[in-house]
Amino acid sequence: MAHPTKNLAEGPSSPLQPSMDPILRWAGSKRKVLTTLRGVSPPSFERYIEPFAGSAVLYFDLLPDVAVLGDLNPEVVATYSAIRDSAKEVCDYLSSIPKTKEAYYTLRELKPELLTESQRAARLIFLMKACFNGVYRTNRNGKFNVPLGSHFYALPSAEDLISVSNQLKNTKLVCGDFATTIGEAREGDFIYLDPPYSDGTRFRGEYSYKGAFQAPDLQRLISICRELTKRRVKILLSFKEHEELSINLSGWTVKKIAVTRSVAGFTHSRRTAREILAYNF
Ligand SMILES: C[S@@+](CC[C@H](N)C(=O)[O-])C[C@H]1O[C@@H](n2cnc3c(N)ncnc32)[C@H](O)[C@@H]1O
Repeated sequence: MAHPTKNLAEGPSSPLQPSMDPILRWAGSKRKVLTTLRGVSPPSFERYIEPFAGSAVLYFDLLPDVAVLGDLNPEVVATYSAIRDSAKEVCDYLSSIPKTKEAYYTLRELKPELLTESQRAARLIFLMKACFNGVYRTNRNGKFNVPLGSHFYALPSAEDLISVSNQLKNTKLVCGDFATTIGEAREGDFIYLDPPYSDGTRFRGEYSYKGAFQAPDLQRLISICRELTKRRVKILLSFKEHEELSINLSGWTVKKIAVTRSVAGFTHSRRTAREILAYNF
């Protein structure tokens, strides 16, 4: 049965505030353009699919009944999985972490693959709330290497984690390349695509892990979008303004929007980037 988006059915939430607070602080989040995303999202769909989930701001705004969330980053997927299955345990670990520089660097050094899923989730939530600008960056060996930021943002409460856990109950989680998550799509589903892109400023090492989306992957993504359009899947794509994209997605509606981005991760040097929103419904 088609799922009406909850923000439309229950009245709009505040412009930049998603209906439910995303658990992760995430530099590339779409919070600043949420009003626009909400405005163009289809009023009803079968399942919601987000293959580049990150903090999944649109998912936590639309609160779909049935969904698929995917990300290549195993820490992101392990976090959602642990919250869904063991919110109380994640909460216990999270509240046991002192908000200190020592705790931050001790946690940063831990190898996540040696932790339990709940510890892994607590570690990522804490690191992202405390790191410099909420940037997820790794070294060449895939090790998280972002320094401590200027302050510790509030951690999610037990109630927040339980609400998110309930929301995630009917959400399938996929750890892998976007094509695997998109492979789940059927007629009537709604896919939101928000791949990372380089804005031409210096390389920041974000999403630098093996297999992360790069410029050459755009053609692969466009081919999949064309194929899914034929199968009547609704797709909304965020990307940097890109002439080739507008040509290749002929027949789609393309809107240009202005997004404020920090330059090289520094909050004091912000600039406005041009992004597009392209959709086929
Ligand atoms: C711009 S962020 C998405 C932000 C999200 N819309 C939000 O609101 O927080 C892009 C995400 O894509 C993930 N990613 C990078 N390459 C990927 C790939 N090839 N397949 C799937 N996910 C990928 C990154 O780990 C990152 O979480």
